[in-house]
Amino acid sequence: MTTSPTTTLIPPDLTWFNNAKFGIFIHWGIYSVGQYPESWSFYNHGAKGQDPSDSLSFEDYMAQRHAFLTRRYDPAAWAALFAEAGARYAVLTTKHHDGMALWDTAEHLSVVRDTPAARDLVGPFCEAMRAQNIHAGLYYSHLDWTHPDYPSLCHAEGIVTDHPGYARSYTLDKDDPVRWENFLRFHRLQLRELCERYSPDLLWFDGDWERTPAKWRFEELNQLLRTWRPGVVINSRIGTFGDYATPEQGIPTTPPIGPWELCYTMNRTWAMATDPSYKTSAELIRLLIECVGMGGNLLLNISPLGDGTIFYEQARILREIGAWLRPHAKAIYDTQAGLPHGYFYGPSTLSADRKTLYLFQLEHPSNEVSVKGIHNRILSITLLNGDGTQIPHRVSGGASWAGVPGVVWLDLKNIAPTPHATVIKLELDGPLSLYTGHGQVITQN
Ligand code: GLC
Repeated sequence: MTTSPTTTLIPPDLTWFNNAKFGIFIHWGIYSVGQYPESWSFYNHGAKGQDPSDSLSFEDYMAQRHAFLTRRYDPAAWAALFAEAGARYAVLTTKHHDGMALWDTAEHLSVVRDTPAARDLVGPFCEAMRAQNIHAGLYYSHLDWTHPDYPSLCHAEGIVTDHPGYARSYTLDKDDPVRWENFLRFHRLQLRELCERYSPDLLWFDGDWERTPAKWRFEELNQLLRTWRPGVVINSRIGTFGDYATPEQGIPTTPPIGPWELCYTMNRTWAMATDPSYKTSAELIRLLIECVGMGGNLLLNISPLGDGTIFYEQARILREIGAWLRPHAKAIYDTQAGLPHGYFYGPSTLSADRKTLYLFQLEHPSNEVSVKGIHNRILSITLLNGDGTQIPHRVSGGASWAGVPGVVWLDLKNIAPTPHATVIKLELDGPLSLYTGHGQVITQN
């Protein structure tokens, strides 16, 4: 099980991930049957302040497995919808905190042995995604609230104790090293199965918070994973060994350092498609633009029903995002973060060669719109959508001979606004060069 920590690992190439920009997260499991929150609905059962309609006993939760039929699971139809939405990767929950594996794992709970689905759901998912050129990602929860050797902890009121509902007979404090070793053996066994059977492009970990990185032996795990599946991209929830950060449910206002991805739900929950509090596609499109403008990705969640169908509301939102993305693909995919704060009042992105700048005008302006601090000569300013209409503009102020750029004023008055965002394309005479000074006295006029 142990590998030498001195083994040299080649870091994965994150190019596809950084260029992908838009991914679909899929929470699917036995909880989809009764439309309850994933795993947390039994973990939080009876907890103070818990909405009783969001929770159920452990026994009732697990009983949902008898109706996990997945009869209408059609991964090719999922993949076609994701492609229509413009997604370039998709991440499926192969095992959530409840311990129910969606593949035919050798040990513990699996939908193949323990539900009427009685088949592997992960392999067909990966194949269908790849057939549409969508990278296949697998979500996996480190912690496992049903494994007999996993000591489940309760974090109520900030005090960590045995979980009262289904706690095992030992805790982290009164450790049982033999059982913990057995759990880690099982944990590695499952991950090896996922890596070797399905060759995932991405591993999306979760549920690390109940133990320290040292206890999970994440350094060793990282080595193993990258040996079993060279080149795999790994998210942040594996101590310090992940490849990218995963802010959740709230867009950062300052971009995280390095590659990142915002994971986000369409309604209030990860698992309940029937929850009516849907966000609008307009706000989700804007969120995607804002993430991409800061150099990040959006991983937008869907929650298929127990029979495998995608709820109509979720399919509609995905199609509406795709309809906006198609004519604006150049400004989104394969781009990098655009202008820093202060240069333009809205998100922006830059082409890979940094010679084309895309500005996203989110509201139709009643006045001219300004872009500041660009040293380059601007070759053209056009509308990305449609026929490449020229956008009238003028430059005012500045002292070009002293390296102080003027303000470029764009006149959008006669440009019909594009729904969600009007995307303006600026072609520059070379890679973007920005004024970064604090203002200066012009000593020669
Ligand atoms: C949280 C939740 C989990 C959900 C995940 C998605 O970690 O515990 O239920 O699957 O977020 O990012």
